[in-house]
Amino acid sequence: MIPAFCDWLSSTAVSMVIQNVYWIIPTVQTVHILAIATVMASIVMLDFRLLGVSAHGQTIPDVAHRFLPWVWTAVAVLFTSGSLLIIAEPGRDLLNTVFYLKMSLLACVLVITFGFQVLVRRDGEFWEHRRAIARITAVVSLSLWVGIVICGRWIAYAAHG
Ligand code: HEM
Repeated sequence: MIPAFCDWLSSTAVSMVIQNVYWIIPTVQTVHILAIATVMASIVMLDFRLLGVSAHGQTIPDVAHRFLPWVWTAVAVLFTSGSLLIIAEPGRDLLNTVFYLKMSLLACVLVITFGFQVLVRRDGEFWEHRRAIARITAVVSLSLWVGIVICGRWIAYAAHG
């Protein structure tokens, strides 16, 4: 069923345009990489603050307020640019186990990030009073984001249809 869907998608007009106009794929890949840089830089600022290794002069809610909008905006850009790459070559991704691993890690980290945001908005002191939980959350979040980057790069080298 998924192979048939990939065949259909790659024969649609929009996929043909992306495949045949030589500058579209490199441009979309560049946008994807710039958004990765944005999300990773923002996450490092946030998680290093949660770990207690940077921005000691700023509260956790201040750091969250400054960097979370960048995270969500970059994720929206990643979703859009990633979808265009899938439409261009569906079999490369939708028939690739590493792609599904990447999406699973992404789903986990987005739930954690959203939960962090809800808690920080509800109670500005929440994370300041729970240092151990804050550190564990930061380590899990950083590990998941790094895992997503590794999977993203790995897709090209894993077997696909
Ligand atoms: C939000 C949904 C996302 C979708 C639908 C998506 C989809 C894709 C696709 C289709 C590719 C091309 C893979 C290939 O065929 O070689 C790709 C590449 C990549 N993605 Fe994503 N992606 C998303 C989010 C992310 C995120 C959040 C990160 C990391 C923070 C990320 C990191 C990467 C990396 C490192 C590459 C390889 C870029 C390259 O070597 O040119 N992606 N992504």
